[in-house]
Amino acid sequence: MITLSVIKADTGGFVGHSAVHPEMMRTAEAELQKRKDKGIIEDFCVGRVGDDIALIMTHRHGVDSELVHGIAWEVFQATTAVAKELKLYGAGQDLLKDAFAGTIKGLGPGVAEMEFEERPSEPVIVFLGDKTSPGAWNLPVYRMFADPFNTPGLVIDPKMHGGFDFEILDLRENKVARFHTPSESYDLLTFIGSPSRFVIRNVYQPGGTEPVATTSTQRLSLIAGKYVGKDDPVLIVRCQSGLPAVGEVLEAFTQPHFVEGWMRGSHCGPLMPVGFDQANTSRFDGPPRVVAYGFQISQGKLVGPRDMFDDPGFDKARQTALEMAEMMRRMGPFEPHRLPLEEMEYTAMPEVMRRVADRFKSAAPVVHGAARSR
Ligand code: F6R
Ligand code: MG
Ligand code: MG
Repeated sequence: MITLSVIKADTGGFVGHSAVHPEMMRTAEAELQKRKDKGIIEDFCVGRVGDDIALIMTHRHGVDSELVHGIAWEVFQATTAVAKELKLYGAGQDLLKDAFAGTIKGLGPGVAEMEFEERPSEPVIVFLGDKTSPGAWNLPVYRMFADPFNTPGLVIDPKMHGGFDFEILDLRENKVARFHTPSESYDLLTFIGSPSRFVIRNVYQPGGTEPVATTSTQRLSLIAGKYVGKDDPVLIVRCQSGLPAVGEVLEAFTQPHFVEGWMRGSHCGPLMPVGFDQANTSRFDGPPRVVAYGFQISQGKLVGPRDMFDDPGFDKARQTALEMAEMMRRMGPFEPHRLPLEEMEYTAMPEVMRRVADRFKSAAPVVHGAARSR
């Protein structure tokens, strides 16, 4: 069995919240190389999107390994030290606690992991999103695994014809539930259509126990009880041979959809698929974007990455996303561009309300019909 762990954190931005400084990337690579040389991990790739560093690691320690989570914690301490030294923005932003205590979950970084038996050929895509939140994956993952207009394999490939099981997490109640598609698609859509509350956590083959796709489902705002940064999400998808083909998985990003995040974590904007060299969130601190790291896993080694959105085939999606961004930006501080109050990650509303509280008087009761004429 091999475990693929992707642990992602913002430990400092260059410049502002737009990107990661190359020195931080070098530090993360050097730290992971030391662990690989010692044989603690099989292989690694340091990925990036916007101001987030993603530690993509293969190892034999299973999911939720204290050892592997501890390594990620140490690497992020090292990148934070670089960020502090260069006075980069928000140094150590996602490290919410001072000390590591057995798991990195709940400490700030986003985590997606899966353990599986390596197939004769194992193509995997790791998606990294910035300036958005875990619910952003709901729509594309549904398209990949449940929509035959996106994934003809659901109709054509006998190995996929039985559909898939989706496990969703209720972020508010902290409960999980499993739904089979296509038979329970409408039930599933009832929930995942509200991505700020219900997020897809895992996808399985029918009745399966080994995930074929998994997401990071932390929400920093819920962890910390107040705004501490965006909970920029990770998605891992295994592809081919009875699973969606690489092209079917990527196709799910060709019709950009609106997600929560963008400027100040308080806006609705399109999720734009970009290549590695366009992974810098600059315009209005965005727009929200996704990069795709493609690998073939071979005896635990990460053969890759290939930049999967580096294809003119996605130019139209990028253009569409920009048009959607223009339309939204015209709304300025109005909904639906600005998120509804309860979804805004940090807001001046309570302070404004307090300051003008005594201006709000009881409105006169509305009087209708005969009563009014008296
Ligand atoms: C959104 C994000 C940025 C910041 C914004 C203000 O996830 O990280 O849009 O919210 O740049 O940042 P501060 O409050 O640090 O000045
Ligand atoms: Mg940041
Ligand atoms: Mg970020």
